[in-house]
Amino acid sequence: MQVSRRHFKLTALAGLLAGWWQPWFGSSSKALAAALRQAEGAAAGPLVGAVTPDTAAIWMYTPADAKIEVRCAPADDPANSLRAAIEPIPTDDLELPGQAWQAALLGLVPNTVYTYQVILDGQTAPEHAGSFRTAPLQGAPVNFRLGLTSCMKVEKPQDSWPLFLQQEPDLHLTLGDTVYADTTDPRVQWRHHLRYRQSPAFARVIRSVPTFALWDDHDFGPDNSDGTAKGKEHSLSGWKRVWRNPGAGAPDLPGAFYRYAWGDVEFFVVDGRYYRSPGKARDDASKTMLGDAQFAWLVAGLKESQAKFKVVASGSTLHHSMHDGWRVYTRARHQFFDAIKTHRIDGVVYLSGSLHNSLAWEHHESDRVGYPLVEVISSGIANSKRLGFATLDFDTTHSDPAMHVRIVNGSGKLRQEQTWRLSQLSHG
Ligand SMILES: [Fe+2]
Repeated sequence: MQVSRRHFKLTALAGLLAGWWQPWFGSSSKALAAALRQAEGAAAGPLVGAVTPDTAAIWMYTPADAKIEVRCAPADDPANSLRAAIEPIPTDDLELPGQAWQAALLGLVPNTVYTYQVILDGQTAPEHAGSFRTAPLQGAPVNFRLGLTSCMKVEKPQDSWPLFLQQEPDLHLTLGDTVYADTTDPRVQWRHHLRYRQSPAFARVIRSVPTFALWDDHDFGPDNSDGTAKGKEHSLSGWKRVWRNPGAGAPDLPGAFYRYAWGDVEFFVVDGRYYRSPGKARDDASKTMLGDAQFAWLVAGLKESQAKFKVVASGSTLHHSMHDGWRVYTRARHQFFDAIKTHRIDGVVYLSGSLHNSLAWEHHESDRVGYPLVEVISSGIANSKRLGFATLDFDTTHSDPAMHVRIVNGSGKLRQEQTWRLSQLSHG
């Protein structure tokens, strides 16, 4: 065969690219595929999930059926130990070699540090022990630190998780792309979650910081997926098995959304995937981000909430994502902003992820809201150049409560910090 000069050049270029690409991407994806296959054969967890003033939920996976116990005691009174009620989490359809467990710790004291130990077949191990602080009483003035993350890829550097732990957050909210499974197949999603939880740096975080989670596209379905995703109900049942969130959806309204309080700060974690119109749909009055029923749930909750700060959290950014955020859902965004103004709801802030960058800013359409609408974006703790995350310190013990935001990058450097007072985030 005669080879033209142009063909030769293209072939040589393709060969060069393949040579560069294969060892870097090919081998890491092969290694990940192998690790995913093996994930069900190793323990994962414990994970501390939802914590309330008097309860805590713990999740664990054992690679074979096991005799499991959880002992827990106040950190300053270790003799006063209590045992958790433990039950298996139904996973029959996944045909796992092992078993997932949920433990409920009940009768705890508010705003108190507890240590716990998971005991498997009579054996203790340091990696199966952890600690957490219970939530303060709902409505009580508080001073606490929220750690905010999103976007973790297990095959990327995990160096920011130790930096995150050094910030000593009281609780952790992770706003999506908690895994990059890119499917609605629950077995594949499950393997990803196990594998991610077997990452030592992440394991240390989830066993000692109460972790509340929301999905975004990559843990809900394919990239940029929406409410038309086939099999989304399987994603939802898998999601409920793998996290111990305070809830998922409302009666007759499936979804991953829920609300919870930390003293007199309240979080409304809204599901921007299950009901979302396709991003490419015309940006007209029929285009929805949350769906009408979930949006009504959100507004009703914001109206009735007595919390000083009302934190609305979801995966998608309000403005910075060009094709996959509220920016291309104009009616939905304006409905949200207008509801805050119409009902004179004070102290609303918005948290998001997805961007693979982190920052805090005031939305340029804040006139619609009636006060500066602060958005804190925390994204790419293990999937970006900067490996960043955010912390939010809420202090409502003063006459003018404050929210202090810090953006930390992967070298531990503080990139941004700013304080907003409740008096600034009010209709006056
Ligand atoms: Fe992401």
